[in-house]
Amino acid sequence: MKTIYLDNNATTRVAPQVFEEILPYFSELYGNPSSMHSFGGQVGRKIRQAREQIASLIGASPDEVIFTSCGTESDNAAIRSALLAYPDRRHIVTSRVEHPAVRSLASFLATQGYRLTEAPVDNLGRLDMKRYEQSLTADTAIVSLMWANNETGVIFPVQEAAEMARKRGILFHTDAVQAVGKIPIDLRRTAIDMLSLSGHKLHAPKGIGALYVRKGTKFSSFLIGGHQEKGRRGGTENTAGIIGLGKACELAAQHMELENTRVKELRDRLENGLLSRIPNSRVNGDRTHRLPNTTSISFEFVEGEAILLLLDEFGICASSGSACTSGSLQPSHVLRAMGVPFTMAHGSIRFSLSIYNSEEEIDFVLEKMPGVIEKLRKLSPYWNVDETVCATG
Ligand SMILES: Cc1ncc(COP(=O)(O)O)c(C=O)c1O
Repeated sequence: MKTIYLDNNATTRVAPQVFEEILPYFSELYGNPSSMHSFGGQVGRKIRQAREQIASLIGASPDEVIFTSCGTESDNAAIRSALLAYPDRRHIVTSRVEHPAVRSLASFLATQGYRLTEAPVDNLGRLDMKRYEQSLTADTAIVSLMWANNETGVIFPVQEAAEMARKRGILFHTDAVQAVGKIPIDLRRTAIDMLSLSGHKLHAPKGIGALYVRKGTKFSSFLIGGHQEKGRRGGTENTAGIIGLGKACELAAQHMELENTRVKELRDRLENGLLSRIPNSRVNGDRTHRLPNTTSISFEFVEGEAILLLLDEFGICASSGSACTSGSLQPSHVLRAMGVPFTMAHGSIRFSLSIYNSEEEIDFVLEKMPGVIEKLRKLSPYWNVDETVCATG
């Protein structure tokens, strides 16, 4: 059975060009880039090239890029560094829809004597800018707001938010794990001080990430050890991962146009097709300010997990908007923050596309999905099949 992979916000396939580029670094080119000998030095040169490729994609200079192991490490490093840089400030500002890499850390820090404000979003997942601005105080050490939401794809106006922070002398970090490679980013023209990205979300391998730290920003190493990354992150480099991330960033720059045309068209074809074929379905989030590859759709009166299981039988991979918390299926914190009604939030599915998807794949999903939802709704006590209307449950 063919796999139809529509879960690219969870992880992506390694691009064939990336795979080819990194293979030698698992075999004959195993030198340590810090070594004095030329055998290691040649790896060091490739790492310099990767740093340039990454910097070029986000409008940074190469020495503003620090390699990490993943997006989560980048987020943790940025936030913890800011707290160390401003020890007298005890306030953290994030939003209610951040990824756990920020949200769980911030909640943990709130148990360690920090004060946390999570700015709210409206029912389209848009940041409440007024409430955000009001939350900034002289005590705020760091703002961390995601560039694009992993579940809905909704894009936050991070540049505007960063300017508000800068005016008050507050460091601004953005978790751009879902944004990098999908939409254009040019940090030179922003007030963003730190930005996180992750390799496996843009067709590089898993286990590699990067943190952008603007020149002049006070920064404390999260991993203290050797002199790697100019003392900003100890540990022998994940050479293959770094080189792969560099190549993936180079490819992302070339494919940006494709992401925003063909991938977006496929996403819209899928979204509009599902909405028109399946009653009581709706899109979660602002459809205008959104990543080109993502759609979160709720199918009322069905369970997201049940939909995923039936889709899996056809080889279709997607995600649901629920999380298994303490034994009960809770709608995700993102959909709850947006006030998506319970009966809708439970049946939400995220489809996230990539340049490797085709029209045939989308049409296959459009063919299978109505039957899947119909089958599940027949089992639902709240769904009146004859009249295709819902009873309120
Ligand atoms: C918005 C966002 N931030 C952070 C992460 C964590 O990235 P990683 O899996 O590389 O740790 C993810 C992964 O899903 C994400 O979507």
